[in-house]
Amino acid sequence: MIYSKIIGTGSYLPAKTVTNYDLEKTVDTTHDWIVSRTGISERHVAAENEMSSDLALHASIRAIEAAGLKAADIDLVIVATTTPDHIFPSTACVLQDKLGNKNAIAFDVQAVCSGFIYALNTADLYIRDGQAKNALIVGTEVLSRILNWDDRTTCVLFGDGAGAVVLQRSDTPGILSAKLHADGSQRCMLSAPGQIRDGKIDGEAFIKMDGQGVFKFAVKSLSEVAEEVLAANNMKGTDIDWMIPHQANIRIIESTAKKLGLGMDKVVLTVATHGNTSAASIPLALDTAVRDGRIKPGQHLLMEAVGGGFTWGAALIRW
Ligand code: UT7
Repeated sequence: MIYSKIIGTGSYLPAKTVTNYDLEKTVDTTHDWIVSRTGISERHVAAENEMSSDLALHASIRAIEAAGLKAADIDLVIVATTTPDHIFPSTACVLQDKLGNKNAIAFDVQAVCSGFIYALNTADLYIRDGQAKNALIVGTEVLSRILNWDDRTTCVLFGDGAGAVVLQRSDTPGILSAKLHADGSQRCMLSAPGQIRDGKIDGEAFIKMDGQGVFKFAVKSLSEVAEEVLAANNMKGTDIDWMIPHQANIRIIESTAKKLGLGMDKVVLTVATHGNTSAASIPLALDTAVRDGRIKPGQHLLMEAVGGGFTWGAALIRW
């Protein structure tokens, strides 16, 4: 049997941070409100000249180095992003060029905050089908570019960053299962609804969100998809060593962990200092816990995410 395994991780956060206290000076909010409702204290914001592909490049170089490979060894590049560099070409093609790689298949996945799980599943299928051996999967976002910084209901929630993994063909299982879902009928609950027309944005391209609606949808869909991926492997929540959730809101994460019977000491948390970095949030959290030594060989990891579309999914991994 052919399987796939994560053999290297990397991440990158832009140098500039914006704290809740900074936001208190520009919108009608308080540090205490943001922390109590979301768990977020600060977030990173990309520099004027930093694009999604630049953040992705830093994270990718670190992941490829951790995997003990060279950029030329990569034969598949999948970038999950909601904030691509351009309308086209894909950010994956830009990244492939910046890496100096000319041989990899390269394309973007647009599944908003679930993008990394969608991309991981896609790469796993490519590898198990024999079409790729070393896949680079990147979640990268410059959400600060599509935030209305005068809208307190959204600007306090999001941040910029990138996370990457190298997934390699393996004789033993690494990715055990992934379960993905989508429901386009819910697309208006979370969107950046502007359209490109005649070379201009028609309507607004800022993030719009029905916060409470998203919250309720997230709590329900995440616990359901987590149970689904566990059941497919005859496992229970308590068999999980680490939950690596999408980092949108500490209250959503706590609710999912509780439903699975997992203590918060089994959950990797970066939401306080990263905010919601959409497709980048899971690989950023994964890299943090790999590099600080929390994640050890043989352990079971549960990743789960939900986001605009609506899309949601979970992946179960043996490290
Ligand atoms: O990746 C998936 C993407 N998004 C999410 O997962 C987000 C899901 N939703 C949430 O995390 C929460 O719904 C929010 C954090 C967005 C909001 O928290 P909430 O507890 O649902 O608050 P709310 O929307 O019910 O608002 C409560 C009050 C309102 O004032 P009134 O109407 O009660 O007077 C809001 O206007 O809080 C007000 N409010 C704020 N106050 C201070 C909204 N934003 C802020 C703010 N600072 N930044």
